Amino acid sequence: MHIPVLLNKTIELLDIQPNDVVVDGTLGFGGHTSEMLKKLGAQGVLIGLDIDQAALKYCETLFKDQKNVFLFHKSYTQIKEVLETLKIAKVSKILLDLGLSSYQLDSETRGFSFQKEASLDMRMDDSKKGLTAKEIINQYSEADLERVFREYGELYNCQKFVGNIVHMRKKALIMNTTELVDIIKKSFYFRNKRRVYIKTCAQVFQALRIEVNQEFENIKQFLDQVLDLWMPQGRLAILTFHSLEDKLVKKFIREYEKKGLIKRVNKKVEQTTYADAKKNVRARSAKLRVVERI
Ligand SMILES: C[S@@+](CC[C@H](N)C(=O)[O-])C[C@H]1O[C@@H](n2cnc3c(N)ncnc32)[C@H](O)[C@@H]1O
Repeated sequence: MHIPVLLNKTIELLDIQPNDVVVDGTLGFGGHTSEMLKKLGAQGVLIGLDIDQAALKYCETLFKDQKNVFLFHKSYTQIKEVLETLKIAKVSKILLDLGLSSYQLDSETRGFSFQKEASLDMRMDDSKKGLTAKEIINQYSEADLERVFREYGELYNCQKFVGNIVHMRKKALIMNTTELVDIIKKSFYFRNKRRVYIKTCAQVFQALRIEVNQEFENIKQFLDQVLDLWMPQGRLAILTFHSLEDKLVKKFIREYEKKGLIKRVNKKVEQTTYADAKKNVRARSAKLRVVERI
């Protein structure tokens, strides 16, 4: 269903102890959580959060017999509120494994994949009425569309593509992934290379997903509050899959390292091996950074 990325390295660097209070802010299908639970004793606590109801339901069944597991349908940006509910002031270990689960990517209905015909939705929180990719494509101004594709998709030559979107949506609303893929095909030159075509589609879909779910804003919000919720000698592990995500994490580490509030656990960023990346394409761009609270 979902192969956890850099699983052993993450667990090793988090150094889970039996009485730890752990937050897995991106529960997914419980891959990392299951391993962390093996190291926790009866006095340890695990708090799991996810905004995807399907992931949460799956984990509720998976961990139903574990008395020390507390699961919430909440964003990791709401970590403070969750800890207040549980009357916990500070936690010792935190994990964020950002991005999409394979289950979400492979969904036939949620519009995350350019290879599956589905409505342009892309909300990770499927219970919400928030912004959808369809609204972005059909309502954003030309300048805003360019910003999204350039900043989040790293598509620096997207003017023709955006022009074509605006032209097509005047005739009829762009409703599904196939219609968007048709516009991509008309807008970029792939040099007859399937690899280039796939990369371009992935960049377009990634940019929309990041905007729909406000992914970078969420990371910033989380990093702004995490120092107050995290006890000395506690560790924070963040797995990123996008260069801008990693940049935000690096900036946070540099700033608070200078202030003497945190130190790096891994001096060199951890990345997947060639063999692992071959087994799990999603893992290719993964970067793991772990820091300790001083
Ligand atoms: C890469 S998956 C995590 C996989 C998990 N570590 C595992 O091994 O199964 C990322 C998960 O984070 C969730 N997610 C994304 N943004 C979130 C947010 N702001 N708050 C909570 N969960 C979020 C997604 O719904 C998805 O299930």
